[in-house]
Amino acid sequence: FSLKPYNTFGVEAKAKYFTEVNSVEELKEAINFSNTQTLQLLFLGGGSNILLTKDFDGFAIKLNLLGITEKTLDENHILVTSEAGENWHDFVIYCLNKNYGGLENLSLIPGNVGTSPMQNIGAYGTEIKDVFVNCEVLNIETLETETFNLEQCRFGYRDSVFKQEGKGKYIILNVTFRFTTKNHIIKTEYGAIRSELEKSGIENPTIQDVSEAVISIRQSKLPDPKLIGNAGSFFKNPTIPSAQFEELKQNFENIQGYPNGDGVKVPAGWLIEQCGWKGKQIGNVASHQLQSLVIINATGNATGKEIFDFSTEIISSVKEKFGIELEREVNII
Ligand code: EPU
Repeated sequence: FSLKPYNTFGVEAKAKYFTEVNSVEELKEAINFSNTQTLQLLFLGGGSNILLTKDFDGFAIKLNLLGITEKTLDENHILVTSEAGENWHDFVIYCLNKNYGGLENLSLIPGNVGTSPMQNIGAYGTEIKDVFVNCEVLNIETLETETFNLEQCRFGYRDSVFKQEGKGKYIILNVTFRFTTKNHIIKTEYGAIRSELEKSGIENPTIQDVSEAVISIRQSKLPDPKLIGNAGSFFKNPTIPSAQFEELKQNFENIQGYPNGDGVKVPAGWLIEQCGWKGKQIGNVASHQLQSLVIINATGNATGKEIFDFSTEIISSVKEKFGIELEREVNII
């Protein structure tokens, strides 16, 4: 069964078994089936953060749980719960149309709601942890439902319990967020948002204005996965010790860094560009010409292996030039 339509890189890989599930009951049935056959499982959401490097000799399950429910919290806040299979951006727009504030800075991120807690998706000054309340998960071993609150999710930069000790143990079924219904908090610290709003002559932006600004920034430099296969940022922005950063600054005066805990977070896109990768293509794979942190399936014919090898070359050259080891953000299967 071809998984090409189910990964935004658009690479070909076959799964031995495949099914789509529309309810928790169907999901449990699928898992029970896999147990009888001792099959390895692969859960697919929006497919926007995976790289399939070879055929999958197991059971791929696409989660299509749908639905959105709301519950008023107080006169300023509402809780909105989305099932895992809802498209992320459609969910953000649904909330904006109702004038619910909180996720506008996360407009146009590919993928589904159910995978958003995995890596605490974040962009333009917001992370989901800022408005996250809890998520319901299915424990794959016990087939019981459990709830993880904010603290239990242990969100960090592109990180959560679901990428650490909880890896492979749970399936996120739905996520609840807390939105403002009035007195919205407008986040425009991110320079690009301010310039975008200025360009449009907007002085007192609404949450809808912020969303539109983010959409236009993203469209101006990130490739649309429907047109060019990609999975967004391929690597995390690395955090390095302050002393190492100071040393690098001696040799590379343009290097930027943002304080992050005990260290300094450095933009991986800049490091990759300095190594000459921006826009560079090898075979079917390239680093995007406007944002080198994004690896693209340039011809549409790339294999997962080719993309993986390309990323390995980037890691080596950044390591060689800067002594920094980039870490892949995309899930390698
Ligand atoms: N930069 C370069 N060359 C490049 C790319 C970036 O010099 O080719 C420099 C930029 O000039 C800028 C800095 O690097 O000074 C940061 O660039 P940008 O604002 O584009 O953000 P990023 O750090 O590259 C992160 C997220 C994105 C998110 C943006 C905006 C990660 C791994 N990526 O990228 O998330 O949209 O910030 O907040 O943290 C994603 O995860 O898929 C994703 C797109």
